[in-house]
Amino acid sequence: MQIIAGMFAALTFLGPIFVSLIFAQKHLFNITPSIIVTLSLIANHIVTSLSDITKFQTSIQSTRILRKFEVVNEQILPLKKKHINRIPSLIVTDLSITLENKRIFSHINLRLNPDEKILITRKSGVGKTTFLKAIAGIIKPSSGSVKLGKAFLTPADYTYISQNVWLFSDTLRNNLTLFEKYTDQELGMVLKEVGLWDELPNDPLEMIIKEDHSNISGGQAQRIAIARGLLRKKQLFLLDEITSSLDNENSDEIRKLIYSLPISMIEIAHNYDATLLKKYHVKIARFERNGLKVEKY
Ligand SMILES: Nc1ncnc2c1ncn2[C@@H]1O[C@H](COP(=O)(O)OP(=O)(O)O)[C@@H](O)[C@H]1O
Ligand SMILES: [Mg+2]
Repeated sequence: MQIIAGMFAALTFLGPIFVSLIFAQKHLFNITPSIIVTLSLIANHIVTSLSDITKFQTSIQSTRILRKFEVVNEQILPLKKKHINRIPSLIVTDLSITLENKRIFSHINLRLNPDEKILITRKSGVGKTTFLKAIAGIIKPSSGSVKLGKAFLTPADYTYISQNVWLFSDTLRNNLTLFEKYTDQELGMVLKEVGLWDELPNDPLEMIIKEDHSNISGGQAQRIAIARGLLRKKQLFLLDEITSSLDNENSDEIRKLIYSLPISMIEIAHNYDATLLKKYHVKIARFERNGLKVEKY
């Protein structure tokens, strides 16, 4: 664009001088040297202005994404600092589950205050997934209750993420909105929050997620799931082994992201990094058939 502008400038500047010189030489239209000078000065003035317009237009076009981005950046800060509507504490009381006449666990109690995070661990098969599903209401408890303050917990209150994130072959935009109405600014904001905005190609919202997810890594898929929850301003995240198929580096990255968000969280995990939990004040509890044993703060 700029090369064309330069050529255009040179041509329109030199053109009139060239024509005037021919006219002067042939004594046509009474052309004098002073007219040539005046003409060339006027031409130069007009051409410089035209060339400036093309330069400004180039700058405007090339920074369109950046300018959109700057607005997004400014709006991210409040989300990191403080959540808008704080939910009451999550209170699990005397929760018991029996499946096909088999008692999985009994009388489990847990209280999770706003912004508090807990990691529940233990070997597989003890009932951790069943416990998380019972909290979410996916499995009906045999007895006990799960409340947010005084009200029963409903699916509108939490985001449930498991090892396999459900994605469909469509734009990232539709995978985030699930065809609900959100502005580009809201979408950009959550993508930035989970670190996908910089990581994915230009115009990430229009990127098509392939059927087999081959253009998205496991860690990115998890971050899309987290972004869905943030977009809906969910303040309780229920996470079942979300890092179990990721390498250490990606697991740490996902955990640092989740642990630093102003949300309440219950994470089920087989492996964990105690130093990281300590750093982010995440409680550790061992799952037992008859209760949670909180190990550390
Ligand atoms: N729908 C079900 N019906 C019967 N038993 C189940 C069902 N779901 C899980 N279980 C049993 O509950 C126990 C705990 O399973 P799960 O909650 O998946 O454990 P964890 O997540 O700790 O590995 C297992 O013995 C499993 O076989
Ligand atoms: Mg499990």
